[in-house]
Amino acid sequence: MMTHSFVINLDNYDIPVRGSTGALIVGKPGSGKSVLVSYLMLMMMTLGAFPIIFDTKRSDFFSLKYLFHVSNCIEKSSKTTQNVETPVICSTPSQVAKSLRILTELMNRRYEEHQNHWGWDWIDYNLRPIVVVFDEFAATISEADRKTESEITKYLKQLIFKARQMGGIYLLLASQRLTADVLERNISSEFSTRIGMQNLDRISLDLAFPGCNLDEIPIVENIPGHGLIYNDHFDTLIPQPFIAPDMTNVDVPSVFKNLFERNKNNTFGQEEYWPW
Ligand SMILES: Nc1ncnc2c1ncn2[C@@H]1O[C@H](COP(=O)(O)OP(=O)(O)OP(=O)(O)O)[C@@H](O)[C@H]1O
Ligand SMILES: [Mg+2]
Repeated sequence: MMTHSFVINLDNYDIPVRGSTGALIVGKPGSGKSVLVSYLMLMMMTLGAFPIIFDTKRSDFFSLKYLFHVSNCIEKSSKTTQNVETPVICSTPSQVAKSLRILTELMNRRYEEHQNHWGWDWIDYNLRPIVVVFDEFAATISEADRKTESEITKYLKQLIFKARQMGGIYLLLASQRLTADVLERNISSEFSTRIGMQNLDRISLDLAFPGCNLDEIPIVENIPGHGLIYNDHFDTLIPQPFIAPDMTNVDVPSVFKNLFERNKNNTFGQEEYWPW
């Protein structure tokens, strides 16, 4: 059994990845969501994670497509046509729905193929983690047609409820505003880490930090990168103030590319059903 517990450090808080669904990040435009998500994504890639990116606003994360494409073409040529159609960076709701379906299938395969040890998880089985970046979740939902929206919600729910043990799939879900229409309360509370950037409106606060008296929630400075963090492993329900790492001097695309290339040679277990 593996004792390595995957942990991400965030402003002196240790955020366990093992046994976690991922992180939910809410905040108004310009509050620092994408910067924080890029940090968490790179930290996951440092742990060896394979990245999948949903950015239907085609902003920061979408731009990774250009450098990513080059490296991906090399991979593609040696693989079957099915892999060519498995997008890693998705810019339309229907691509997002498709990717989520592929992730759900991968998760289910992992459960089927790895059940000989009672209580083992993806780390014990040495399976490669996957980090899913979903930037501007509410925007993607509002852009999707009815059928696509319900597909996205259906697969996302399965991943959120089931992936923590055997999926090895860590979700980073960022959204400007949260309402129960876009993310049901029983889903948002499944995220082991919940983050509000700057000050939030009461509805978003209530969804991000359920069960918490709104009057007890600390006030945050209205500076990008400042926020509140809650984690299942903290000994309080009250979210704590934190400051996200300043990434201004980090060349995210080139770090992304380096980690992506480096991780092609990894010591995770081979999975013949691996879709990318
Ligand atoms: N942790 C941080 N430290 C210092 N500056 C930051 C930090 N986070 C964000 N900023 C500054 O704020 C700007 C906006 O951040 P970011 O793009 O992450 O916001 P956002 O919430 O994703 O906004 P949008 O809703 O427009 O996508 C950044 O370009 C950067 O200049
Ligand atoms: Mg953003």
